[in-house]
Formats: sequence, C-alpha cells, structure tokens
Amino acid sequence: MATLSIDPRVSVRTADFVTTDHRMLIDGRFVAAASGKRFPVYNPANGEVITQVPEAEAEDVNRAVMAARRAFDEGPWPRMTPSERGRILWKLADLIEQHTDEFAELESLDNGKPFSVARVGDVPLTVDMFRYMGGWTTKITGKTLPMGMGGEYHSYTLREPVGVVAQIIPWNFPLLMAAWKLAPALACGCTIVLKLAEQTPLSGLRLAQLIVEAGIPEGVVNILTGYGEGAGAPLAAHDQVDKVAFTGSTEVGKLILQAAAGNLKKVTLELGGKSPAIVFPDANIDLAVSGTASAIFFNHGQCCCAGSRLYVHEKVFDRVVEGVSSIASEIKLAPGLDPACQMGPLVSDEQYRRVVGYIESGIAEGARVAAGGPVSGVERGYFVRPTVLTNTNPRMKVVQEEIFGPVVCAVPFGDKDVDAIIRRANDTIYGLAASVWTQNLTMAHKVARGIRAGTVWINCHNVFDAALPFGGYKQSGWGREKGEEVLNNYLETKAVCLSLQS
Ligand code: NAI
Ligand code: MG
Repeated sequence: MATLSIDPRVSVRTADFVTTDHRMLIDGRFVAAASGKRFPVYNPANGEVITQVPEAEAEDVNRAVMAARRAFDEGPWPRMTPSERGRILWKLADLIEQHTDEFAELESLDNGKPFSVARVGDVPLTVDMFRYMGGWTTKITGKTLPMGMGGEYHSYTLREPVGVVAQIIPWNFPLLMAAWKLAPALACGCTIVLKLAEQTPLSGLRLAQLIVEAGIPEGVVNILTGYGEGAGAPLAAHDQVDKVAFTGSTEVGKLILQAAAGNLKKVTLELGGKSPAIVFPDANIDLAVSGTASAIFFNHGQCCCAGSRLYVHEKVFDRVVEGVSSIASEIKLAPGLDPACQMGPLVSDEQYRRVVGYIESGIAEGARVAAGGPVSGVERGYFVRPTVLTNTNPRMKVVQEEIFGPVVCAVPFGDKDVDAIIRRANDTIYGLAASVWTQNLTMAHKVARGIRAGTVWINCHNVFDAALPFGGYKQSGWGREKGEEVLNNYLETKAVCLSLQS
C-alpha cells in the first residue's frame, strides 16, 4: 500500500490503529461491509489517503438496525437499573479520558484541527458529556397528575425510551458529535445505530472498541462507516427505526424528514446557521476583538454556530475590524499535528472548494477583503486563510448563506434603535446562535430576548457545556441537544390512569 502516508508525528499506537483493517461494530462484533467494499480516508493536511474503512450499504444498515431492534425488544439495556446504566456510561467516560492523547491525534489527523485544541476541547467535552448523561439516568422521572374533572383516579406519567434510534453525524467535531448523540440516547435506555461522517470515521471506530470494553451489551450501540446516500439514506428510511437524530446541512435535514415519513419515526435535526455577533460601542473592545475573532475562526469556522456575521457599531467599527483582521493575518496555518499549528486545513477538498468559492463570490459581488482571501499560499492540503470581508450588502450570498469556513462579513450599524439591529440580526433563515458584546446589562438582555436563536452568548461565543441545551430556531433545526432538554428527544411519555373505584 504505497500510497499510505501517516503524519510522522503521530504515536506508534495511533499509527497502528489508523492502518489496521477497520471493521464496523454490529451486534457486538467487528465486521467488514457485507459487500466487502471499503472507501478511502484522507489526511486533509496533504490530501493523501491514510487508510480505508468499510463502506456500509443497505444490507449492513439492515443488520445493524435489526441488532438494535433485538437489543431493545429483548436485551438487558432498557431493563437494567438506571444506576447500572449510569455506571457503564461513567466507565466509558473514564476509558475515553485515559486515551485522551490518542483521540486528540485521531481527530487532528482525520479532521485537520490542531492536536492541542482537540486535546483540551473535543476530548474533555466528550468525556464530560458521558459523565453528565450518566448522572441523568437516575433522574428521569414521571409526574403524578391530579385530575381536573374529578373522580377517583390515581394518574401518573412514565418516561420510557423511544426505542431504536438512528443517529447521523457530521465531521466538524467527529468524537464530540458522537457523544452528543450517543450519551443521552444511552442514558434513556435506547439502542442505537450511529453512522459516522465519511470524511472522519477514525475516532468513532476507536470509540466503538471502548464501547465494547466498557461493557455496553451487544447490539445496543452499532457503529457504521459509509456515505450519506449509501448508508445514511436507508438508515433514515428504515421502518424498524423509531427515531432519527441528525446533525448536518439544512439541505440533507430536509431529506431526512422525507425519509422519516414512511413510518413516521420521530425526528430531531441540528442544522446550519449564520450566527450574528453584535458589538456595541460600550463593549470591552479588546475582549470583543479577540472574542469575535475566535467566534468565527475557532475550528476553522466549521461550526454550525460560528459567528459569521459581525455587526459592529460605527463608532468602533474600524477598531474592531482592524483588530479582527490583524488576528486573522497572524494565525499560523499548519498541519494539525504540527506544534506550531494555530489553524489546520479544512476537512476536505469539497469543503475547501466550497469555502474558496464563497470568498470569490463575495469579491465578485463587491466585497472588500480586509484580511485573508481566496489564496492560502500553502502548497498542499485544504488550507484557507482566515478571511474578513467588508463592504458587503444584506443580499450577498456571503451574508445570507452558511459558508462553514473561516470567513466573516463585518457590517457597521449606527442605529440608536436597538430593535433595528435585532431585526437585522434576525434577517436570516437560520436561528442557531448569536453573541452580544456590551457592558450594558439592559442592552445585553434586551438583545438576548430579541434574537430568534437557540443560544445567545453575552461577552463570549462558542461556549459549550453538557448542561447547556443547544439547537435551532427556524431552519436551524428541531429539538435540543445536551442539557435536560435532550432527554425529550429520546423519551416517550406514557400516561397511566388507574380507577380507584373497585
Ligand atoms: P451533509 O449534511 O451532507 O452530511 C452530514 C451527514 O449526513 C454525514 O454523515 C453524511 O454522510 C450524511 N448524509 C448525507 N446525505 C445524506 C442522505 N441523503 N441521507 C442520510 N444521511 C446523509 O453535510 P456535508 O456535505 O458534509 O457539508 C455540507 C455543508 O453542510 C457544509 O458546508 C455546512 O454548511 C453544512 N454542515 C453543517 C453542520 C452542522 O454542524 N450543522 C455539519 C456539517 C456540515
Ligand atoms: Mg453532503
């Protein structure tokens, strides 16, 4: 396999894992695709193939769904005590934590993000998600209900797992997205078929091994590698799946909804965004500059909640734009495993072309480049320079559409009227997140109420925690991930009504 090339900086253990004969987890066993097909995984820092993984198709999907069905209908997972389930989730969290460096290497190699960021961000957040949801297992309760119409009844609700859950995730935080999906579904007692993103299957395949090691019974978690059309579509359409949870593009979210119609499976969607960051003149400007820069440049802008529209009051517009542009110009582009790396490559050639195409379209429509631009100057790999565009107008594609790269449109506002800037911030089909930068408490909370989005950050952006519900208004999605709210995605409510007359 002369084309195999692993970054020389990865540990021997990780290199061994990457180049192993990868198998998917179905019904507690590690198996190849029924067809024997495999597909390549690329290193985005140089575009080379680093390994091959199984290509699941409808037959594999069916095997995995039927394993999850059996595990749900007959197996121990939904029936064991909540405390036992919690202990297993904590054990899995401990195992992931023990392999922090290995997971960070896999994320960096596969996705392109800096190793240092994966090590202090993606992996610890994953560990905490499993611990947090392990804690919820023992706190999922129903209610007793007094009956308004009188009569002698004892009525209460039971909260029961929704059943077999299909989960489809993207590539921007491969391990963390798996955790956001798996942990709450497991806490609720569901069984799962998880399809990893085709661009970034490695950390999920390693996680599959730890899932078995943690003692999660066979068939409870099945993990597939495959493409969207080949594996994701039959999974979303399968009539033995009770619920589908999807994170990805708004376009595919709509396809998931159609696929779910056949058996009316429950659907939750976490989709795109075009999140505003709004800087008022009284903000701590140094904080606002570094904060709004990281709002868009963190994870190379490949965040559904990236602060991609920067609205700055005209009194401080030049200062903030110069500040953000100078941060952009100083960011060091390098492969994620290079210790000097501050920003790695985008995940794939497809995303590289898409993001460069947006920068070019912005320029063609008259935007001015205050930093960055379409040419990265890096010879190999999918690198895009952090880019700041000014002189945009609200109808430009770069202002309306999700770019999903390190590209921000800075726009001045001068209105005394707060409602006008809120309207402008809301002028999008999306409603995932926003940030507001001000020292004025009244202003901060007024804007927080006015924004039609699932998260509003005040004097911060991209702050994630297992306890904070996350999700979208409008076309950014249905339902919430994390926090207590996510449990609703994976539970049914049963009303039980007992007559006390005998
Ligand atoms: P995508 O929505 O095509 O892929 C996300 C997941 O859905 C992957 O696992 C993929 O295999 C699966 N998928 C694709 N087509 C499917 C289908 N017909 N049925 C079932 N599953 C399917 O996103 P893609 O192509 O990777 O990125 C395109 C754009 O989507 C990005 O530029 C970005 O704007 C947005 N995106 C948003 C994300 C978010 O976190 N909300 C994450 C990734 C992408
Ligand atoms: Mg796609």
